[in-house]
Amino acid sequence: MTEIYLDNSATTRPYQAVIDLTGTILAESFGNPSSMHVKGVEAEKLISKARRQVAAVFECHEKEIYFTSGGTEANNLAIKGAAYRNRRRGTHLVTSTIEHPSALSCFQFLEQEGFTVSYLEVDRQGLVDQEQLKNTVGSETVLVSIMHVNNEIGSVQPLEELGRIIKNSNPETLFHADTVQSFGRLPLKPDTWQADMVTASAHKIHGPRGAGCLWLKKGALLQPLLHGGGQEYGLRSGTENTAAIAGFGLAAEICSTRLREKTAELYDLKQAFYRKLLEAGTSFTVNGPKPEESAPHIINLSFPGLKAEMLLHTLEDKEVYVSAGSACHSKHPDPSHVLKAIGTERENLDSALRFSFSGFNTMEEAETAAIVTAEVTAELQKIM
Ligand SMILES: Cc1ncc(COP(=O)(O)O)c(C=O)c1O
Repeated sequence: MTEIYLDNSATTRPYQAVIDLTGTILAESFGNPSSMHVKGVEAEKLISKARRQVAAVFECHEKEIYFTSGGTEANNLAIKGAAYRNRRRGTHLVTSTIEHPSALSCFQFLEQEGFTVSYLEVDRQGLVDQEQLKNTVGSETVLVSIMHVNNEIGSVQPLEELGRIIKNSNPETLFHADTVQSFGRLPLKPDTWQADMVTASAHKIHGPRGAGCLWLKKGALLQPLLHGGGQEYGLRSGTENTAAIAGFGLAAEICSTRLREKTAELYDLKQAFYRKLLEAGTSFTVNGPKPEESAPHIINLSFPGLKAEMLLHTLEDKEVYVSAGSACHSKHPDPSHVLKAIGTERENLDSALRFSFSGFNTMEEAETAAIVTAEVTAELQKIM
């Protein structure tokens, strides 16, 4: 059997065109984009093209795209940058309990810096409590940060409704959305959401590691976190990673072409996997939203009586690669904060696996992975 990679929420295989482009840039277009000679101009042009390609996905002006090293840095820039810049206006920040650690840990850090943070609760589907949001945002609130798609359970927040609540409560409050998991997989409408900042990352969309961006609405101001040569319009100093940025631009363009069809194909893969598991009589429960209501590429399942790590490695022996909870948690043995926040029962916390699909997966792979998972879980459940 050939390997079946179902850990696409952790990272994705780069498109061949991206590998070719980044390799060529590393070999040939290695000039510093700030240099005034032709090698610099060539690199600068590559970055400008990528800025246009990424801006097209957000349907925004290219000058509103600020490249970073990835999603973690963009989240740090948005959250800490907004908090510090607006400190005189207020020190109240709002987020949810199920954010990615790259956002949550910024808020925990800011609490130590004297800010007050409200953590919105979520329901069993991982959707934030809108009533609580309405009652929480006030005149002192400078920032609300909510992710679009949750990386562990695939819940999709209704950002348009959340944006309306936030801006009705306080038009001055900045609204940041982490779209790392939805960029290139679902249509993004920062303007409709009334968002001021949006985060994306290249390696989740078949681009290279080492590039991401923050979309920052014209007029919104942030405190830079990196000081230096004034690159990225003074907001993010540091010599640009031309190859990774250009690869990001190309990946953004490829994944957003025929987006509707690609999204439907991802749902088909996930549904085929889910149906096959059901047909096999496998004993499991879905954590979070139903497969048809979650993001197209993510499904999180618990297998009663089994340990996720053991199951993951048994699947690995069969060359099926999945994740226990979130990949970003693999270094922390604690149960997932997301599964806990949605009220997952104790026995299901330890047996949760995330299966995440990409356009590189075939229908045959989805079905084979389900059959292998069914066989492996049945065997292990017998032994346990
Ligand atoms: C929702 C979400 N936000 C942010 C990040 C961090 O992105 P990066 O890996 O590019 O730092 C991730 C990565 O898994 C993510 O899933």
